[in-house]
Amino acid sequence: MYFDFTEEQLLIKQAAKDFAINECLPGVIERDEKQQFPKEQISMLADLGFMGMMINLEYGGAGIDTVSYVLAMEEICKVDASVGVIMSVNNSLVTTGLQIFGTEEQKQEFLVPLAQGKKNGEIFIGAFLLSEPEAGSDATAQKTTAEDKGDYYLLNGTKNWITNGSTASVYMVIAQSNPEKGSNGLNWLIVDRFSEGIEVAPKENKMGVRGSDTCTIHFTNVKVPKQNRLGKEGEGFKLAMKTLGGGRIGIASQALGIASGAYERALQYSKERQSFGQPLFNHQAIQFKLADMATRIEAARLLCLKAAIEKDNGKDFTQSASMAKLYASETAMWVTTEAVQIHGGYGYVKEYHVERMMRDAKITQIYEGTSEVQRIVIGRSVLK
Ligand code: CAA
Repeated sequence: MYFDFTEEQLLIKQAAKDFAINECLPGVIERDEKQQFPKEQISMLADLGFMGMMINLEYGGAGIDTVSYVLAMEEICKVDASVGVIMSVNNSLVTTGLQIFGTEEQKQEFLVPLAQGKKNGEIFIGAFLLSEPEAGSDATAQKTTAEDKGDYYLLNGTKNWITNGSTASVYMVIAQSNPEKGSNGLNWLIVDRFSEGIEVAPKENKMGVRGSDTCTIHFTNVKVPKQNRLGKEGEGFKLAMKTLGGGRIGIASQALGIASGAYERALQYSKERQSFGQPLFNHQAIQFKLADMATRIEAARLLCLKAAIEKDNGKDFTQSASMAKLYASETAMWVTTEAVQIHGGYGYVKEYHVERMMRDAKITQIYEGTSEVQRIVIGRSVLK
């Protein structure tokens, strides 16, 4: 595989880098502390065309490839992983699912504004509602029901850990319509967040990615028109799983960005900080850490790009996406922990950023499939 980026890909990477440094860095510590949703940043990202990067131009997207998306995600998450996850969910899970599996009517009604990230000048984003209090890794154990009522489904149940939970205008909900059919009874429904019967709980007080809003959502007798179902009756789980593969490339890139952001800060600090009469970097104990960090980050980057290239070439990227997500998230956790260690006491306080990165890294091993789930997917794939 040959990674010589095109001029367009490099321009997108640079645009993402400029955006991250100029628009995300100021206030990132404060937003984390206050758990403040990065509204201005998301609005600007929408104007840049980064909320529907891989969506065709005719549906309001930027019409660019997954490689560019990986490059942009890395640059943004080097600085602000909360902005990154909001962007990733809208790009990989919501709009990509709609583009691949939506009908023309669904695309016109939902995809166009979601890909633009705006409607009538206001932020317009989506959320992916799979997880439930008792269905996390065991994703087919859905308790939320979508009862067939003729021309609509009646939705009842609870979803939790929903990224963009209180800010999304569109919910993409997995629900059970035929329990006796197991996973083949599940439907994937496009739900207007402002429908009657939807209650959004206050956002969770999280360890990391505190700028993103994560909520529990309750559905009580919510009517969802039949035409809002993605794919055929009972196909929902498979379509959602296929879409999650792309989501895993997004989270792998987020993890990659967190890792490379922490590494760059640790490298810089090691050049500036003096100890025992010389810069930290001159001590082999520190140099070896930085060498290992750089090597693991490069390996994670190559896995992310491999998965992205397979996706762009229309190949089955399920295994590569899971490998990228597994390796990049484990790398992010390890690299950020070492970055804090290199900073010593300074790493343990907020001003130096790496403690936030260490907290942010943890979730990349959990959401969109834990490291254990990625090993299940990879294990099944290598056994084929
Ligand atoms: N593509 C197509 N079909 C797929 C598929 C895929 N990638 N993965 C599974 N399927 C199909 C299977 O072939 C099977 O079909 P049949 O019954 O016709 O054979 C059906 O779906 C059920 O699949 P499994 O039998 O493999 O199901 P399982 O119970 O063994 O579970 C699992 C598999 C991999 C553990 C899966 O449940 C899983 O990925 N769990 C993790 C869920 C997850 O990632 N949650 C994240 C929530 S989203 C999130 O975090 C977003 C956010 O806000 C940041």
